[in-house]
Amino acid sequence: MVNVKVLDHPLIKIKLTVLRDKNTKHTEFKSNLNEIASLMVFEMLRDYQVKNIKVETPTKSKTTGQTFNKEIVIVPILRAGIGMIDGITNLIPQAKIGHIGLYRDEKTLEAHEYFYKIPNVSKDSVIIIVDPMLATGGSAVDAINRLKKDGFKNIKMVSLVGAPEGIKYLKENTTNVDLYIAAIDKKLNKDGYIVPGLGDAGDRIFGTK
Ligand code: PRP
Ligand code: URA
Repeated sequence: MVNVKVLDHPLIKIKLTVLRDKNTKHTEFKSNLNEIASLMVFEMLRDYQVKNIKVETPTKSKTTGQTFNKEIVIVPILRAGIGMIDGITNLIPQAKIGHIGLYRDEKTLEAHEYFYKIPNVSKDSVIIIVDPMLATGGSAVDAINRLKKDGFKNIKMVSLVGAPEGIKYLKENTTNVDLYIAAIDKKLNKDGYIVPGLGDAGDRIFGTK
């Protein structure tokens, strides 16, 4: 089953509006994207199971504190997922980072893998795939299923904007994943872009168009 959770905190909505605005320049786009990524991961970890550890404080006393019970690996889908990494690692500096390079063929809209490198961690680790856009869902499904093929079982995905078509495709082509998303938009246009969406996330982050 794919669990879809829409994270609609007012701050996420306000910052997403800045990203949607076609007049937002690339510096502001990048900073808002990272801020949303922080907020989304903060919300996502609300139900996270921590484990207890003992700490000694400067007052020469001991107390029980908490830490992560599993290793966390953040996996951005290149390129646009990179735009969310700083915001997430600010909150979870101990997280390791993996990379999956996928590009969408502009005509067929099919995703093609060109890079795959995941840290050597236990298959029990928590994998958080990040990509701002979930359009046809092809890239998300390929990334999730590639990690599953590698043996990872605990997979979550954080996306900003999704199309109903992409969410449907995800539900039909993978399972056992939690998807956290800031907004589910109206539809895909004939070029495979999300409408209203925010345009080409990679180009807006990296200033490539
Ligand atoms: C964009 C986006 C997603 C993908 C979503 O990447 O960042 O990875 O498209 O589309 P889908 O759901 O239809 O697969 P793109 O392939 O344009 O590469 P880029 O990030 O390098 O620009
Ligand atoms: N990729 C993007 O960057 N934007 C879209 O709207 C769809 C795919």
